[in-house]
Amino acid sequence: MVAGNWKMNGLGASMAELEKMIQGFEPALAARLDLLVCPPATLIAQFAWKSKGSKIAIGAQDCHAKAFGAHTGDLSAEMLRDAGASAVIVGHSERRADHGETDDAVRAKAEAAWRAGLLAIICVGETKTEREAGDTLPIVGRQLKGSVPEKASAANTVIAYEPVWAIGTGLTPTVKDVEEVHGMIRKELVKRFGEAASAIRILYGGSVKPDNAATLLKAADVDGALVGGASLKAGDFLGISRAYSGGR
Ligand code: PGA
Repeated sequence: MVAGNWKMNGLGASMAELEKMIQGFEPALAARLDLLVCPPATLIAQFAWKSKGSKIAIGAQDCHAKAFGAHTGDLSAEMLRDAGASAVIVGHSERRADHGETDDAVRAKAEAAWRAGLLAIICVGETKTEREAGDTLPIVGRQLKGSVPEKASAANTVIAYEPVWAIGTGLTPTVKDVEEVHGMIRKELVKRFGEAASAIRILYGGSVKPDNAATLLKAADVDGALVGGASLKAGDFLGISRAYSGGR
């Protein structure tokens, strides 16, 4: 899976970029990977309508844990599904930092996503200070334990490992570091949910670009990418997805 997180970017005119993505996503490539675009909530309905019948799926960037109620400004997973989303990102580090989202809150959001029939893309990742202190594995392990609900499966869950220090900075971990964290995530998922959980996709995110995608996406236990900045332009986003055009 290659998923694009548009964050707080995109207006109605961005439809042109989505059209380019739909046109450029060749059938041979579409047979190899799932391509997901997560625009701001204001564009979900338009994007879902436009991408109908194409191989591109539309997702959301966050949801509320409740289905409805007095929560001014919030959107429920049911509403996102109703607008045409098939997936939702939960627990992105920017939401954890800007909105104080805890692992418990993220877990409730993932459960809300499942309740509404959405795929939950659950994000984890260490800060620079945590990495420098040698705490990456325990921190990511703790986030994983706290943020992923019981009954996670390959059908309802995708994990995104995004080192906070790699997001939007142009910095990326080494392949060895990525493999170490993804390997730990895989092991923990299987330990908790059984052998079938080895099919849960684990995406890498943080400064993925067309020129480093092939290297990062071929690393062991990396099943795709969560892409921020480079997902805004069709050329870059499709360039990243072409890391899957060769044999693997
Ligand atoms: P980036 O963002 O690709 O711009 O580093 C990744 C993300 O935050 O999902």
